[in-house]
Amino acid sequence: MGILKTAILAGTVAVFAATSVFAADIKIGFIVKQPEEPWFQDEWKFADVAAKEKGFTLVKIGAEDGEKVQSAIDNLGAQGVQGFIICTPDVKLGPGIVAKAAANDLKLMTVDDRLVNADGTPMEDVAHMGISATKIGEAVGQTIAAEIKKRGWSPSEVGAIRVSYDQLPTAVDRVDGALSVLKAAGFPEANIFDAPQTKTDTEAALNAATVVLNKHANIKKWVAVGLNDEAVLGAVRATESVGIAADSVIGVGIGGAESAINEFKKADATGFFGTVIISPKRHGYETALNMYEWVANDKQPEKLILTAGQVALRDNYEAVRKDLGIE
Ligand code: GLA
Repeated sequence: MGILKTAILAGTVAVFAATSVFAADIKIGFIVKQPEEPWFQDEWKFADVAAKEKGFTLVKIGAEDGEKVQSAIDNLGAQGVQGFIICTPDVKLGPGIVAKAAANDLKLMTVDDRLVNADGTPMEDVAHMGISATKIGEAVGQTIAAEIKKRGWSPSEVGAIRVSYDQLPTAVDRVDGALSVLKAAGFPEANIFDAPQTKTDTEAALNAATVVLNKHANIKKWVAVGLNDEAVLGAVRATESVGIAADSVIGVGIGGAESAINEFKKADATGFFGTVIISPKRHGYETALNMYEWVANDKQPEKLILTAGQVALRDNYEAVRKDLGIE
């Protein structure tokens, strides 16, 4: 080989090595706050699809509290991961997560729950994908308002359970979006009751809603909203446990994963009237792909992506899922 050719070849190799990382060497972390929840299982499933497609390694870790988040990030650093996506158990961990990621030289993106600064404002420099919370909440409210009307209920005799998790901004936006529509449709503010849950799962929602129902035992018709299907299911289970008939309850959730579908599949309708189906595929597959592009090709992810949802009811959920490309 001539000197010139060798020099060119050597130069090419050097340039290539400096600007590109081989897919097989890329490792991406995906940390979620509640690994047992179907939504997060689905997110991981779709992130795995991206990993398979591009040939990178996906490292999945569940982290239910701040300490676990810290050790999960160190763990990713020690494994030679280049970047990770996180749905944090607490958005106030934001500055700590950013610092920990930087200390481990890891690129960082968030999904579902957006990190906040010490003053509560969103950390806008961290690329995030979440749902369009207010709009999706409004769809919940419209669905409930229409059904109240259809059933001929007079709003003054109906109670609304607001299963709340107010430390999470997206949760506030979702439930307030729903309630703003209900109020605009004539639902009395005095009939709306907060049921603060300690955790965003069904059991915590059931406990919170039971307190409300016992306190307002005079009310016999109920509607329920919450940040996800699990929250609304908890409220529906609570109405069942105090003996309120299924046709006196209208609960509409957000999610559309297994918890909701199982409910729709029951032979007899329950108080879980509907859900707004959101896309774990976009949240899992796209975030993983965007992180891959960032690591492999230095392509910066978009700073903020908000995804949409679609209302599904017991009698049309299969068609809606089909329409959305979910099998
Ligand atoms: C939050 C909720 C999840 C799910 C996601 C969707 O993280 O806790 O149940 O609704 O938002 O973005």
